[in-house]
Amino acid sequence: MDDIVVGPLDLAARVDDALAVQALAFGLTDDEIGVRRQIVLRHLRSPGARALGATTEDGLYGMPNDRHHWWATIVEPYLRAEGNDAWLDDAFVITELHVLPAYQKHRIGRTLITTITDGADEPRSILSAIDTESPARALYRKLGYRDLARPVHFPSAPSAYAVMGALLPLPR
Ligand SMILES: CC(C)(COP(=O)(O)OP(=O)(O)OC[C@H]1O[C@@H](n2cnc3c(N)ncnc32)[C@H](O)[C@@H]1OP(=O)(O)O)[C@@H](O)C(=O)NCCC(=O)NCCS
Repeated sequence: MDDIVVGPLDLAARVDDALAVQALAFGLTDDEIGVRRQIVLRHLRSPGARALGATTEDGLYGMPNDRHHWWATIVEPYLRAEGNDAWLDDAFVITELHVLPAYQKHRIGRTLITTITDGADEPRSILSAIDTESPARALYRKLGYRDLARPVHFPSAPSAYAVMGALLPLPR
């Protein structure tokens, strides 16, 4: 894994490669990939959206939160019910993070998320993750993310999610 270099990714140009990684890491159908492709390309037009990749195989992207975005409008009432809706202001949102199975558990996920948040202007970071004890949840907890609201239900998503938040910079 020594050959892996983490750096900025032209995600618009590499969207199909990135989605192929996501499909493998997450187990997505062709229909789901088609929907996500549109979403990723729309997100990339958001001011401040930035993406990182690890060589050609892995990647993550995020952007400053916008309360008018679909994601924020869904999670806002759940956060408000917990007294945590202020986290939606001045927060960098981790939108997608995926590492190919063969490359997992080599600290690539950790490096991607700490590198992208180190470059954020915001004092905190938020994200949503499926509300199970997954490798993703373990990684986020280790980096200081705590549960802000759970369970959170997105329309048409079969699984319940947790919204998590951490102060920046993330601890090492
Ligand atoms: C979540 C994911 C990106 C992690 O990437 P990764 O490169 O394997 O993670 P890292 O090697 O950087 O792991 C960092 C920490 O996460 C935790 N972790 C990672 N994989 C784990 C696993 N299989 N079981 C338990 N903890 C795990 C460990 O605490 C680890 O800390 P350590 O390095 O001190 O042991 C990867 O598992 C993945 O792509 N999963 C499928 C897609 C997904 O769920 N994405 C997130 C959507 S919210």
